[in-house]
Amino acid sequence: MEKDKLKTGILKKEIINIFKKFGLSNNHALISANALINAELVGAYGHGLSRLKMYCDRIKKKVINPKPKIKIKKISQSISHIDADNSIGFVAADIAIKEAIQNAQKTGIGMVAVKNSGHYGLSGYYAEQAVRKNLITMIYTNAPPAVAPHGALKSLFGTNPICFGTPTGSKIPFILDTSISMINRGKIRFAAKNNQKIPEGVALDKFGKPTTDAKKALQGVQLPIAGFRGSGLAWMVDILSGVLTGGNHAGRVKDPFEDFSGPQNIGHLFITFKTNLFVKNYNTRIKDNIRKIKRLPKVRGIKEIMYPGQNKYIRLKMNSKKDIKILKSTKNDLEILKN
Ligand SMILES: NC(=O)c1ccc[n+]([C@@H]2O[C@H](COP(=O)([O-])OP(=O)(O)OC[C@H]3O[C@@H](n4cnc5c(N)ncnc54)[C@H](O)[C@@H]3O)[C@@H](O)[C@H]2O)c1
Repeated sequence: MEKDKLKTGILKKEIINIFKKFGLSNNHALISANALINAELVGAYGHGLSRLKMYCDRIKKKVINPKPKIKIKKISQSISHIDADNSIGFVAADIAIKEAIQNAQKTGIGMVAVKNSGHYGLSGYYAEQAVRKNLITMIYTNAPPAVAPHGALKSLFGTNPICFGTPTGSKIPFILDTSISMINRGKIRFAAKNNQKIPEGVALDKFGKPTTDAKKALQGVQLPIAGFRGSGLAWMVDILSGVLTGGNHAGRVKDPFEDFSGPQNIGHLFITFKTNLFVKNYNTRIKDNIRKIKRLPKVRGIKEIMYPGQNKYIRLKMNSKKDIKILKSTKNDLEILKN
C-alpha cells in the first residue's frame, strides 16, 4: 500500500487550517487536530485522518455545528450535565473530561454526562488526561448501529467502547479501552477503503453468513465479543451514555459516514475519582497488584505480560519520534480539503 510521510507539526498545522476553513474556532480546530494526530500516533488509524473528510462533510451539511454554544449545567459540586449543541465530538469530550477532573479534584468524584455530541474518537485519549492528574476514570460513549443484540437479526448497538483508566505508580498508565465488538468499526471502514480483508470471525454479511470482505461486513453485522456477554456490555454502554444522558440511544445514533439527515446526538459519560477514597496507599497497592501479575509464568512466545494501555504507550513513544505515514487516499483527502 502506498504511503506518504509527513512531519507531525506540518500535518497538525494542515489539519488546523482545514478545520478553521470549515468554520471551527482556533481553539476547537486545535483540540480536534490534536485528537486526530494522537489517533495516528497510537496506531488507531480507523479513528485518525481517515475520518477527517467525514467530519468536514458533516460540518458542510450542517449536521456538525462549527460554532456551538456549549452549556455546562452544574447539578452539584461533583455532577455536571453538558449540552454540546452538536459540536464536533472532540470538543465536547475535551470540555467534559476537564470538567470531570475539576469536579473530582474538589469533591473526590466527578461525573459528567454529555448530550448532543458527535463521534469523539478514542476514549483512552480522554482517560489519559484524568490519569495524568492521578485520578481513576471510567468513560462510556455510544455509537451508530453495528452490532446485533444477542438473539436479534439486526444491528442496533454501536461498537460502544468501555474505558477504564488508573494511575499505576509508574509513567505508563493502565488504560483498558476496548470496543465491545470483535474489532472496531473504524478498522473495517479502513479495510474497506483500502481494499483489505478483515479477520475471520468478526462479522457476518447481510445474509448472516461469515465474511472477511470489509465492504460486505459494513452492510451486514459485526459480532460482539464473548457472545451474549458482549451484547450485554454494549447494552450497558447504551444505557449509561444514551438513556442516562439525554443522548440518542436504542439504535438512533446516525452513521456519521452515511446518514446526513441530522446530527448524531451521541451521549457520553465521564466518571473520575481520587485513588485515596478508601485507602491511603493506593500507589503501593496498585504497584504490588501489577508486579504480582507480571511475575506469573508466561505462555511460550510471550516475553512480557502487559497491562492494558502499555502497548499504545510504547507505540506512541516510538511513533512520536518519526514522521507520520499516511495513505495516498488520506493524502488525497487532505489536498481536496485544503483547496
Ligand atoms: N468513539 C467511538 O464511537 C468508538 C467506537 C469504538 C471504538 N472506539 C475506540 O477505538 C479504539 C480501539 O478499540 P479496539 O477495541 O480496537 O482496541 P484494541 O483491541 O486495540 O485494544 C483493546 C484494549 O486491549 C489492550 N491490549 C491490546 N493488546 C494487549 C496485550 N497484548 N496485552 C494487554 N492488553 C492489550 C489495549 O491497550 C486496549 O486497552 C479505542 O480507543 C476505542 O475507544 C471509539
